[in-house]
Amino acid sequence: MLNIAIIPGTSRPQALNPQIVAWVEQQLAGNDDVRAEVVDFGSFDLPLLDEVVPAGAKMYTNEHTKAWGAKLEEFDAFIFVTPEYNHSISGSLKNALDFVATEFNHKVAGIVNYGADKGVRAAEHLRHILANYKLAVVRDQTSFSIFTDVADGQFAPTEVSAAPFASMVADIVAWGEALKSVRETAAEEQAA
Ligand SMILES: Cc1cc2nc3c(=O)[nH]c(=O)nc-3n(C[C@H](O)[C@H](O)[C@H](O)COP(=O)(O)O)c2cc1C
Repeated sequence: MLNIAIIPGTSRPQALNPQIVAWVEQQLAGNDDVRAEVVDFGSFDLPLLDEVVPAGAKMYTNEHTKAWGAKLEEFDAFIFVTPEYNHSISGSLKNALDFVATEFNHKVAGIVNYGADKGVRAAEHLRHILANYKLAVVRDQTSFSIFTDVADGQFAPTEVSAAPFASMVADIVAWGEALKSVRETAAEEQAA
């Protein structure tokens, strides 16, 4: 069983994001290989980055950083649900990511991206950022258009857009199970 955190990618009020996050949660609900939970950085009251030491050293001084990091620590895998803002991810997601680092090491992620141009540029930027965390991002990603996968403000994914989600999750499960032993070895080496 793989523990997956579904990470909403924006703090924007009245965003489309919660509808897509709910869809992701629903898709995973019937999957016996995974346990999924929505982990919203918005509930951790993170200010603009206020830690002195870069996160890789894990010398957190603020309670909000400790809580956010400890929550992420619980998971084997992540599905980021990201809009595209100005050809990238949202500033609020980037800020939340900058607080932490090792919590993502040797884990796996998938990306659900959306926007006027399906959010593919945001997804590519996110892949660059996540690589710095030694976080393996599976190839298949799920891309939605706000024009063809939304009707009257309601998320209504077409079959074609939604199709890659299944193979994305299958790879997350396969890689996620394999990476558990990589983390065990890394922990043993650190303890030695
Ligand atoms: C600040 C901002 C910048 C945006 N920039 C882009 C963009 O560069 N490319 C694009 O395809 N859509 C862009 N959009 C459109 C969003 O992808 C679209 O509004 C989407 O619904 C945003 O997700 P959200 O509703 O969950 O916030 C932008 C929207 C916002 C709010």
